[in-house]
Amino acid sequence: MISTRVIATAGCVPEQVVTNDDLSKIVDTTDEWITQRTGIKERHISSGENTSALVIRVAEKLLERAGVEAEKIDLIIVASVTQDYGTPSLACMIQKEIGAVNAVAFDVIAACSGFMFALSTADKYIKAGGYKNAIVIGGETLSKIVDWTDRSTCVLFGDGAGGAYVEASDEAGIIRENIGSAGAQYEILTEGYTECANAFNENKGGVHPLWYVNMNGREVFKFATKKVIKSLEKVMAEENLTQEDIKYFVPHQANVRIVEVVSKKLDIPFEKFYMNMDRFGNTSSASIPMALNEINEKGLLERGNLVMLSGFGGGMTWGTMLIRW
Ligand code: ACO
Repeated sequence: MISTRVIATAGCVPEQVVTNDDLSKIVDTTDEWITQRTGIKERHISSGENTSALVIRVAEKLLERAGVEAEKIDLIIVASVTQDYGTPSLACMIQKEIGAVNAVAFDVIAACSGFMFALSTADKYIKAGGYKNAIVIGGETLSKIVDWTDRSTCVLFGDGAGGAYVEASDEAGIIRENIGSAGAQYEILTEGYTECANAFNENKGGVHPLWYVNMNGREVFKFATKKVIKSLEKVMAEENLTQEDIKYFVPHQANVRIVEVVSKKLDIPFEKFYMNMDRFGNTSSASIPMALNEINEKGLLERGNLVMLSGFGGGMTWGTMLIRW
């Protein structure tokens, strides 16, 4: 049976680092508040580079690390909520830049679960046959859709991109997933709203207040803990696994307290959750692939290890995936 294996990973962040102390100079906040409530200490913030610059860099690194020529790429899927344009997709921009002339390229939107949805889509294309490989990337410049006067949201996010090159294989790779959507709750986390203003109505257009990230933090917290716990439990039960069988859990890097709840409730040692939100903040669709790439770059995974990725995000959406390395 065909499986989808992760062959290479890559990540990229803008150079500029913004610390909690830096933020306390522009909004009424403190390093102590941010650290205690979120676990975030600093984040990388764009000095002007747009999302395309980050995802293109990741795609270039993936080609280099996988040792694959661009013309051999069958599929490029990017997850993002901060694309440069409405159209073209970021995936098409990557295609042009790297010269992947034979690829099918498109973007998906599932906010912070975006990478899980993109990887799941690539897995289906590959398993259906005809597509032998894919570049799958999550990338964001959230700094352009954050209200930098709103202390309740601007301290949470960072910019970055991460991704994986995956290939059809006879050996096990992506083993099982649980992804889902709860659109009924979409209003608890939104961004990027634009009004329908045109020459034949009275809407004025311009930047709508809901353009910026708008979040009911407590409701998102409840959603995240509930869905991640259920989703992890389901995948482990379906594969007859306990936490001891899993080398690393790679959660969406939104908030250390969410991970603490999941760890406690499922009785999974906290150290088994790989976290880097202290250095990068919440990078939405980039957070899971950036963390996975760090684990890979540090050589923390051996062939055959099991890794569990799990994210939640706007939509609302969630996604968990079990991968044999
Ligand atoms: N600095 C100082 N004080 C602050 C700040 C800040 N940056 N932000 C809010 N406060 C204040 C509030 O004004 C409030 O003050 P008040 O009591 O005088 O009214 C107080 O702190 C408590 O605010 P809450 O919003 O109730 O704080 P809470 O403990 O819920 O923490 C947080 C907020 C961190 C957002 C939390 O709700 C949370 O973790 N939610 C999960 C959502 C999440 O992680 N989202 C990430 C993005 S979404 C995603 O990734 C899918």
